[in-house]
Amino acid sequence: MTGAGAISDSGVPGAAPHAAPQSADGQKPFATRAGVRRLLHAAVAAPSVHNTQPWRFRRVDDATMELYADLDRLLSVTDPMGRGLGISCGAALFNLRLAIRMTGHAPQVLPLPDPGERPDLLATVRATPDGPPDQDERLLFGMIPHRRTNRFPFDGRPLARNVFLDLVTAAHTEGATLVPVKGRTARRVLDLVAVAEGTLTAEESYRAELARWVGSEARSDGVPEHAFGPRPRHGELPMRDFAVGDLPPGTREQADFEPYPQLAVLFTTDDGPLDWLRAGQALQRVLLTATAHGVAASMFSQPLDVRPPQHRGDHAGPFGYVQMLVRFGYGPPVPHVPRRPVFEVLDRRTREARRG
Ligand SMILES: Cc1cc2nc3c(=O)[nH]c(=O)nc-3n(C[C@H](O)[C@H](O)[C@H](O)COP(=O)(O)O)c2cc1C
Repeated sequence: MTGAGAISDSGVPGAAPHAAPQSADGQKPFATRAGVRRLLHAAVAAPSVHNTQPWRFRRVDDATMELYADLDRLLSVTDPMGRGLGISCGAALFNLRLAIRMTGHAPQVLPLPDPGERPDLLATVRATPDGPPDQDERLLFGMIPHRRTNRFPFDGRPLARNVFLDLVTAAHTEGATLVPVKGRTARRVLDLVAVAEGTLTAEESYRAELARWVGSEARSDGVPEHAFGPRPRHGELPMRDFAVGDLPPGTREQADFEPYPQLAVLFTTDDGPLDWLRAGQALQRVLLTATAHGVAASMFSQPLDVRPPQHRGDHAGPFGYVQMLVRFGYGPPVPHVPRRPVFEVLDRRTREARRG
C-alpha cells in the first residue's frame, strides 16, 4: 500500500484542483504545525460510519504520522469487531496518502505495525521524497472537500460505461473489487438491505446507539438532520432511517426515489482488520473518482450491521467478502456535514506517556 496510483481516465471533468498542501522548499510534510494541520484537515474529511470520525493521529517526526482507531467511538452494538471503524479509518488513510503526494512525497504505509502490543495503531505513514503529484492525483485531492454522502433522490440518468469502468478500476487499484449489480440481483440485494433495516430498527439497543449519533446541528460529529434525506415515498429504497424513533411518523418529508437505483458492491478477498483498512481506501478512491465525474453516491451498510460478531467465519462468495453497498447517480447538491477540528484528533502525548 504505497503511493496513490493513477486513475484510468485523466480527462474526467471536475473542479479545478484544490489548494494543495505543497511545501515549496521541499520541507517534510509534518515539519510545521501548519503542515500537520493542512494534511490532517484532508484526512478527516473522509466519510465514516454515522460520522463517528473514529480516528486519532500522532505525529512521530517531520516525516511520519501514526493513525490510531479511537475505540471510544466504536459502535459497540452494530460494529463490535470494528469493521465499520476500520473502513472509516481506511478512507481517512487514503486522503492522508493523497495529501502527502501533494507535498512531493510518497506515502509509505505500514498497516497494523504492532497488532500484538498496539492493536489500535492502524497504520504508520512515512513520507519519503518523490516527484510532484500527477494530474490524476491532483484531481482526486481536489475532490476531497466536494465529496458528500447524498441521501436524496437521484434523477435516474444512467452512468456512462466509462464512468462505471473508472469506479471499478479505482477499487481495483486499492486491492478491492467493485461489482455493479443490476436488474433482479439489484432488487434482491435491496430486499436484503430492507430486511436488515427492519431487524435493526426493531432493536432497542440499535435505536439507542443510533440516537447518540444523529440529529444535532450543533455538534461537529454525528449525522445532522439536514443530511438525513427524505423518506422514500413507496419504500422503494431501504435508506438507513436516521430519524428512527426521533420524529413522529409523517413529519419527515417524503420523496420519489429513482426506480432503478445503480448499485455496486465492494468486496475484499478476506475479512479482517487489514481488509477493512483496504476496503476503506478503496471506497474513498471510488467515491472521489465518482465526485470527479460529477456522480453522487450514498451507502448502505445495514446488512453488515446485523452479521454476528464472529462473522469472520462467514462463507465468502466468488469475489470475497462484502464490505459496502454503494448507490450512484446524479442528485441535487447537498450541504457539507461537519468534522471535528484537527486539534481534537491529534494526539500530543508521546508514545512513552501513552504506555505509562
Ligand atoms: C463504514 C461506513 C458505513 C456507512 N454506512 C452508511 C449507511 O448505512 N447509510 C448511510 O446513509 N450512510 C452510511 N455511511 C455514510 C456516513 O454516514 C457518512 O460518511 C457520514 O455521515 C459523513 O458524511 P459525508 O460522507 O457526507 O461526509 C457510511 C459510511 C462509512 C464509512
